[in-house]
Amino acid sequence: MATMSANFILFLLTMAACSSVIFSASVVEDLNTLHPPSDFNTTISKNCLLNPSLRYCSTSPMNLIEIFKSSIVASHLCNDSRNPNCVESFPKIDLRSRPNIALLYLSFHFFWKYCPLSILSIDLSNNSLKGSFPIDVLECKQIEALDLSRNDLIGEVSFRIFSDLANLTTLNLSYNQFSESRISDSELFFKRFNSSSFISSGLLPDHRKYRMKVVILLIVFPILVIVLVWFLGWLCFHRPDFLPRMLRRKHKFTPAMLRAATDGFSEKNLIVKCEGVDIYSGVLRDGTEVRIEIYRNGNSREIRNEFIEECKIFTQLFHKNLVKVLGSCHNRRMRALVIEASEGESVDMWLSRSRPPWKQRLKVAKGVLEGMVYLQEQWPAVDYDLRTDSLLLSRKLVPLISRFKLGHQNCSSRNIYKFGVFWFEMIVNRQLRDEIKQDESSFIRNIKTQISKNLQAVINECMELQRESMVNQAKTAMNLALMCTDQSHGHQPNLKYIYDTVTRLSSNQKMQEAEKIRHKRILSRN
Ligand SMILES: *[C@@H]1O[C@H](CO)[C@@H](O)[C@H](O)[C@H]1NC(C)=O
Ligand SMILES: *[C@@H]1O[C@H](CO)[C@@H](O)[C@H](O)[C@H]1NC(C)=O
Ligand SMILES: *[C@@H]1O[C@H](CO)[C@@H](O)[C@H](O)[C@H]1NC(C)=O
Ligand SMILES: *[C@@H]1O[C@H](CO)[C@@H](O)[C@H](O)[C@H]1NC(C)=O
Ligand SMILES: *[C@@H]1O[C@H](CO)[C@@H](O)[C@H](O)[C@H]1NC(C)=O
Ligand SMILES: *[C@@H]1O[C@H](CO)[C@@H](O)[C@H](O)[C@H]1NC(C)=O
Repeated sequence: MATMSANFILFLLTMAACSSVIFSASVVEDLNTLHPPSDFNTTISKNCLLNPSLRYCSTSPMNLIEIFKSSIVASHLCNDSRNPNCVESFPKIDLRSRPNIALLYLSFHFFWKYCPLSILSIDLSNNSLKGSFPIDVLECKQIEALDLSRNDLIGEVSFRIFSDLANLTTLNLSYNQFSESRISDSELFFKRFNSSSFISSGLLPDHRKYRMKVVILLIVFPILVIVLVWFLGWLCFHRPDFLPRMLRRKHKFTPAMLRAATDGFSEKNLIVKCEGVDIYSGVLRDGTEVRIEIYRNGNSREIRNEFIEECKIFTQLFHKNLVKVLGSCHNRRMRALVIEASEGESVDMWLSRSRPPWKQRLKVAKGVLEGMVYLQEQWPAVDYDLRTDSLLLSRKLVPLISRFKLGHQNCSSRNIYKFGVFWFEMIVNRQLRDEIKQDESSFIRNIKTQISKNLQAVINECMELQRESMVNQAKTAMNLALMCTDQSHGHQPNLKYIYDTVTRLSSNQKMQEAEKIRHKRILSRN
């Protein structure tokens, strides 16, 4: 303390040297009117010799005007800070709740540069100071207390600037609007001063904000996660068609997808409702038109497992004469097969509607046989349906086998028989559903008895068999059908034989057509 007052006395000696009228006017007036006396540099030099720790002694070159001015400011500030005896000591700067003069003194940058060593505490609180941290204040490195609370200071505080202030024990930055520091050494700083130095300063995380964050972290975040998981789950289990293609399971459809595709299984999408199966038309999200077959005939675990096995195989079938099975949907309430839709109609409708010529019937039969050959060679375990009401026909007259079953007793003899019945229906055109429904075997028996009476009469009159060769072809075909349906004596031809025969008939037909056209041309030329 002794050195302090000695320092201050030196300081005041400086004052005394400068003017005797120093307290006569306001600080601004004094700064304008007073000038350093001629021996001022000598006084300063003497002071520095006596006490080299004086702040102005370490500056070089010395700015005598600034030093003089700062001594004027110091003497005013000492009195304004209500220090009791400014002639002897200047321990504190107390400008609390005095916004105007606090701002004025802060604006004297030169003063803070030469901050008197005697000052131990600075209080600038409750002054509505604006802008960033008044860094000039920290030139008074010896201070023990600094209060900047209740101002409107903003920006980040670099805590590094406090590291020079070794004796600073009381700091108050409360009630300001600083930004939270992102500097890593802030932790040390906050250990040095406890939280009561930073109340609502913006430097420490606000408790309310902190609580908000905790609430968000503990409640909102888990809820968000749950919602997200739920949403993803919903997507995966209900609407996987909204997922990117790579995340979707191939061939897997969900009831929600089918519901969306069929407009909620609406009446207008229902194509047909027959025993155990509802067939809907629909459009998938990607625009693919599909036929959706929903099976209503039981849904026990056993049936379902069987269905799953079947679907696995059906989705692998790939041939131009087989419908394309896109996938399936199965759960405890539903079993459905999704099939690519083909434009056209069933073969029996085609037969009864358009009375197709012989040539077209051959073409269709050949297509059916190609599908059968593919299945026999590649998928011998797959059984299929050849009834004319289940076979589909595209606009270009490409037949599509559309009903499959994983056959336990898939037997080629049975398939040949089925083809025979189909072939009969194609030739005779006497499809007459009632008759068929009655009994397949009686239908065949009926035809057989009629054939023995008059073959020609049995052959469909609508076929327009204009020429003898065609009639012969139809007879060959009829015989083939007879052989196919004759399971009794092992007379059944094999698939290859049937295929060859139909192909031959078909190509004969083509040759004859060509012949006919040539003939016509020759005639017209003559
Ligand atoms: C010193 O300060 C007091 C108030 O604290 C004031 O009344 C007085 O005029 C001041 N003296 C000078 C010389 O400025
Ligand atoms: C004081 O200033 C005068 C000129 O203004 C200069 O000649 C002299 O050397 C200075 N003395 C000191 C001690 O700096
Ligand atoms: C802050 O200053 C205002 C006047 O500027 C005064 O009315 C108020 O009481 C002061 N508050 C504190 C806490 O000192
Ligand atoms: C801190 O105080 C001690 C003793 O009071 C003093 O020697 C030292 O110079 C002071 N530090 C600063 C940076 O002023
Ligand atoms: C903060 O430190 C001061 C002394 O510097 C002490 O009086 C006060 O109780 C402390 N407050 C807290 C919250 O630790
Ligand atoms: C800082 O100032 C505020 C308001 O004036 C006060 O509540 C708080 O206790 C002070 N903190 C310290 C460490 O003095």
